[in-house]
Amino acid sequence: MQTISTALFTPINVGNSPLSHRIVHCPLTRIRTNADRVPVPLMTEYHKQRISEGGLLIAEATIISEDAGAYRLTPGIYNDKQIEGWRNITTVVHDNGGFIYLQLWHAGRAGVSSLIPGNKPPVSASAIPINDKNTIGEDSEVPHALEVEEISQIVKTYTQAAKNAICAGFDGVEIHSANGYLLDQFINSSSNVRTDQYGGSIENRARFTLEVVESVSKAIGQNRTGIRLSPWSGFQDVKDNTPYETWGYIVEQLQEKHPNLAYIHFVEPRDDYVSGPNPRKDRKEIMEKDSIEPFRKVWKGPLITAGGYTTNPKRAFETAEKLDNTLIGFGRTFIANPDLVLRLKNDWPLNKYDRSTFYGGDSTGYTDYPFYNSSAASDILKKN
Ligand SMILES: Cc1cc2nc3c(=O)[nH]c(=O)nc-3n(C[C@H](O)[C@H](O)[C@H](O)COP(=O)(O)O)c2cc1C
Repeated sequence: MQTISTALFTPINVGNSPLSHRIVHCPLTRIRTNADRVPVPLMTEYHKQRISEGGLLIAEATIISEDAGAYRLTPGIYNDKQIEGWRNITTVVHDNGGFIYLQLWHAGRAGVSSLIPGNKPPVSASAIPINDKNTIGEDSEVPHALEVEEISQIVKTYTQAAKNAICAGFDGVEIHSANGYLLDQFINSSSNVRTDQYGGSIENRARFTLEVVESVSKAIGQNRTGIRLSPWSGFQDVKDNTPYETWGYIVEQLQEKHPNLAYIHFVEPRDDYVSGPNPRKDRKEIMEKDSIEPFRKVWKGPLITAGGYTTNPKRAFETAEKLDNTLIGFGRTFIANPDLVLRLKNDWPLNKYDRSTFYGGDSTGYTDYPFYNSSAASDILKKN
């Protein structure tokens, strides 16, 4: 049996977590909680299958308050039952030698009033709806542009959610400031036309995200706080006029004020997942010409890169070899391969993912992807 030895399988410290390899499970929404947004035993099983010794799992986008969601059956981290549900998962991960972070999420204008208690409208930076259907197939609603005091309240809510996550046993949290959700709606120029201290200049559009980082990291420690950014997402209809300058500023600020953050997690411009259902018209051009490299030069801490490795796993080996302090996030391939780390390490073949079972449903397409059967494979080899 050939075991691959490369930088991908060398240890790295992420915050307080001494990882023994650099393959990371990306946050992956799967719409399988109970009606109260509490993680269920099936979700414990899913995570248990994907643990590896010294490996990092980032659990799916999890709403910070009952009015922050965009879908039914996505998890929350704002009440005791949810904390208990998550604790079952973090316990199993730790008992088996792994580490786990929780992605903290506010969907902003991607929300739907009929899913928000009191039928309140979704919120955003400005009263600009997504130019598309919402998550229940209706025209997206015009969001309420948050007042300054409401923004301060949401910063506090993120902070409480982070404390709850630590109480649930997570090793840290990932602030979801990507993929067109609330914080990203403030950052991108297309969704933010405010004229106060949260709009206009790059400094102002970045303010909300940086306030959340400041408050969360103060509460739970920089070394338990990570952040996800996606300069070229296009998801949920966001777009920025000056991605290099905008995210360049954010990364400079993080390096200057929060150099000990556990990690920055970048979604690559070549992320072909987002080009699936709702592509940006300029996706092809972005994939060819844009790069997170300028940000990498500024950020000195651990950096997770995600997107483009599912379709080209070889690139994961090359990237880890080439770039220090770099971890590789896998999304769809981790869905389809519970034993992804072993498969990559041993050069075993990968299962293909089934898009039709990504969102919602039961164990099908969730916990029933097969583990690689090395003894069956070696029997076949012997026979040949
Ligand atoms: C089913 C599914 C659910 C996802 N859910 C989330 C999520 O909750 N939070 C997030 O930041 N990204 C989410 N993503 C994006 C992934 O984290 C990742 O960036 C993307 O799949 C690209 O990686 P890949 O090419 O390895 O699949 C999701 C992707 C998929 C396929």
